[in-house]
Amino acid sequence: MKNMENREFISVIEQRRSIRSFENRPVEKEILDKLKELTLRAPSGGNMVMYSIVEVNDRQKKECLAKICDNQIMIEKAPIVWVYLADMQKWVNYFMESGCKEKSGIDVRRPGIGDFHLAMQDTVIAAQTTVLAAEALGLGSCYIGDIIENYEQLQALLDLPPLAAPACCLIMGYPKRPTSPMQRRPPKESIFMENSYAEPHLEELEKMYKDQEDFLREHKTLPYDNNGTIADYYYNRKYTSAFMKEMNRSTEVFLKRWVEGN
Ligand SMILES: Cc1cc2nc3c(=O)[nH]c(=O)nc-3n(C[C@H](O)[C@H](O)[C@H](O)COP(=O)(O)O)c2cc1C
Repeated sequence: MKNMENREFISVIEQRRSIRSFENRPVEKEILDKLKELTLRAPSGGNMVMYSIVEVNDRQKKECLAKICDNQIMIEKAPIVWVYLADMQKWVNYFMESGCKEKSGIDVRRPGIGDFHLAMQDTVIAAQTTVLAAEALGLGSCYIGDIIENYEQLQALLDLPPLAAPACCLIMGYPKRPTSPMQRRPPKESIFMENSYAEPHLEELEKMYKDQEDFLREHKTLPYDNNGTIADYYYNRKYTSAFMKEMNRSTEVFLKRWVEGN
């Protein structure tokens, strides 16, 4: 085991945390190029690389993107903003424009939700490869989940065709220090299951999220005067929130467009 360890890489994973505040300096071209090269080393289904990444560096577009993404001003201020798109458009164009149907005699089919799911997997795997590569290059990063809200506006802003759907977004740059504290995680026994799914209920769930609940209590962020549970916290702030409702609406729109193609 000892000989196989790559301590530096392990500590890249151990030390990573989301960074939301960046030094006010650009990222050098060679670092950016390396980040792109490393991102592309991510595995993808059949090596089809079913994603595209739009780097948003136009100031007005960044402002607009921050608004679309629940007014998160940090997006405007981040030196690097990458929007990850699950992209079947390029392959469908290639199939159509190179005459695959005529040569094979096989009828064209519509892209379905399986294509969507697979392309999403490629895309998110690439994004997480970027996160670790960025960390190894001395950069910090944070995902922006709100990129899947307000699809119509995003579609217009980035000119998205039906088969290039938003998957996720990363903001990156040199971290401003000190950085925020490490977030806690559930214990591994509660996440890793053996051979079949073990559905957790109240007792197990309370144990599973205890450390995270303690963290929120220490930071006085639990609802009901800090007497609520972590379930109350996520129920009120995320699950029943207006932004989650918008995320569901918006996702339905781009999924429908992917499947129907208009
Ligand atoms: C899919 C996804 C969406 C996220 N969206 C946001 C976001 O919109 N804004 C934000 O500040 N952080 C966002 N985050 C960062 C999480 O809040 C963060 O990963 C989590 O609190 C754990 O903290 P850590 O990354 O520092 O370990 C997102 C993370 C993921 C994986």
